[in-house]
Amino acid sequence: MIPDDSYDVLIIGSGAAGLSLALQLPPGFRCGVLSKAHMNAGSTFWAQGGMAAVLHDRDSVTAHADDTFNAGAGLCHAPAVEFCTSQSRSVVDWLIAQGVEFDYRSDQPDDEFREFHLTMEGGHSHRRIIHAADRTGRAISDVLTQNAAAADNIALLPDCYAVDLIRQDGRCVGAYVLDSENSTVHTVASRAVVLATGGASKAYLYTSNPDGASGDGIAIAWRAGCRVANLEFNQFHPTCLYHPEAKSFLITEALRGEGARLLLPDGEQFMTRFDRRGELAPRDIVARAIDHEMKRLGLDCVYLDISHRDRSFLRSHFPTIFDRCLALGIDISSDRIPVVPAAHYTCGGVVVDQHGATDLPGLYVVGETACTGLHGANRMASNSLLECFVYAASAAQHIAASELPPAINLAQWDDSRVRVSDEGVIIPYHWQALRRLMWDYVGIVRSDRRLEFAATAIELMQTEIANYYSQFRITRPLLELRNLAEVAGLTVSCALSRKESRGLHFNRDYPETHETPKDSILIPHNQPPFQGPNPTQLPEYKFTDSPQL
Ligand code: FAD
Ligand code: SIN
Repeated sequence: MIPDDSYDVLIIGSGAAGLSLALQLPPGFRCGVLSKAHMNAGSTFWAQGGMAAVLHDRDSVTAHADDTFNAGAGLCHAPAVEFCTSQSRSVVDWLIAQGVEFDYRSDQPDDEFREFHLTMEGGHSHRRIIHAADRTGRAISDVLTQNAAAADNIALLPDCYAVDLIRQDGRCVGAYVLDSENSTVHTVASRAVVLATGGASKAYLYTSNPDGASGDGIAIAWRAGCRVANLEFNQFHPTCLYHPEAKSFLITEALRGEGARLLLPDGEQFMTRFDRRGELAPRDIVARAIDHEMKRLGLDCVYLDISHRDRSFLRSHFPTIFDRCLALGIDISSDRIPVVPAAHYTCGGVVVDQHGATDLPGLYVVGETACTGLHGANRMASNSLLECFVYAASAAQHIAASELPPAINLAQWDDSRVRVSDEGVIIPYHWQALRRLMWDYVGIVRSDRRLEFAATAIELMQTEIANYYSQFRITRPLLELRNLAEVAGLTVSCALSRKESRGLHFNRDYPETHETPKDSILIPHNQPPFQGPNPTQLPEYKFTDSPQL
């Protein structure tokens, strides 16, 4: 698709964060929503378990907040946690008003008083996860995409890849966009720009994420002069399907919420040796325990067993998993499911305030690309979708209330000095090498020696990629590799700066946890010095205008 020359708001990313932001802008705002592939290409479409929300009488916002703090290992920011958890009911109401259909309890009469079916996941002290079977992401994504396509003020632009932001006079004024179908780079001016590009889990060899999770927004914002934080906290989901024919297939934590047990090959249920909450301990603990057992016993995988539950229950609550496993010869009502941990979620990201505003005026970042302070050192299950919707609403309101300067004429992209590559092999080589390196050296358990080796190796790769970038015409694989290497380097820098173990970051050289938690914030040096109040801290929230969804 060919983007227009200018928009009021250019939204880069069409997942939960990008689409919900577009749908909440006033109709007078013309916006373009880019996706570098098809409109459902992000992680949102694949979300299984559901969204955390306080919906049951016996649950409370305080309990949700407390659980989030506990999972986050001391690093969650209270204003962000309070902000998000207090908005969950409104988010659910907004999604239902959009047309999203969540599951109701089947044991109640089908009338206006019926309650939602809520599931349980690791770290939660209540059943709190609202869902649409095990395909919640698809239910949300389809509805939001349809509604955005029907809105007169929103242009959906598949196969449009944001290369870099355009900065002028200290403000973000647009972006360069590669139209992948025609291999042409367009210059797009915009009064405000939003990065909603998802996470960076593709930096690891094994991941639950779709192919596009290459950390583009984090790399793009960093190059434009924004601070990034807490990138060492890569979340590894404990249970991805281990099967030669299954690529990136998640086995939802909700299965453990319904009693699934983690087993060693000899049948030992091992989780209680690591944490009294067993299979429902927060993810960092479960993933590390599995990693420990696999390394101790030299295993390729461990097993998840839900065979004690009814076949019909499993079929109706987990249809996607049931069918996918059956197609691979695993009947989950009788067989154990082979599982391994895999990179799943980027807890850190671009530093933003309560409106998703960044260090660069005119630029907002929402969704998994942002670091809001909500997740701390370990995101609690199903808090991600909630965060996407809360901050997207807040950003939409902030943009609508701001006096945005008009879009301006910008210099065109100049590719007169580059040519079509005749050294294509460099891209898949570095893509493989980088992801293997991150898995082996910057994985679930780290050491300074491995991190330092990784830092040196990534720097060399970045030099070679930069050389290639300066000589050849850009393509999607080249842009993704460049961004992935950038984010990998930033991740290692954050990891090296943390001289303790906390949450998802475990370093054998510093197994203890410091008493005072501290964010690891990286400040770019390629731009004028940071102007904010304190560059080494996340922005403070001011709650005079808390958004009402
Ligand atoms: P995404 O949904 O990832 O969308 C990113 C968008 O950005 C895509 O449209 C992509 O094409 C576009 N994009 C990226 N780079 C560029 C670029 N350079 N130019 C143009 N476009 C670009 N969380 C929960 O809370 N509950 C769950 O049950 C849950 N289950 C999950 C299951 C799986 C398998 C996975 C992978 C994640 C799950 N998560 C879950 C996490 C959650 O789904 C994601 O964190 C969330 O959906 C991210 O939404 P987003 O809008 O930030 O980005
Ligand atoms: C899952 O369903 O296990 C994923 C939930 C999440 O990542 O929040």
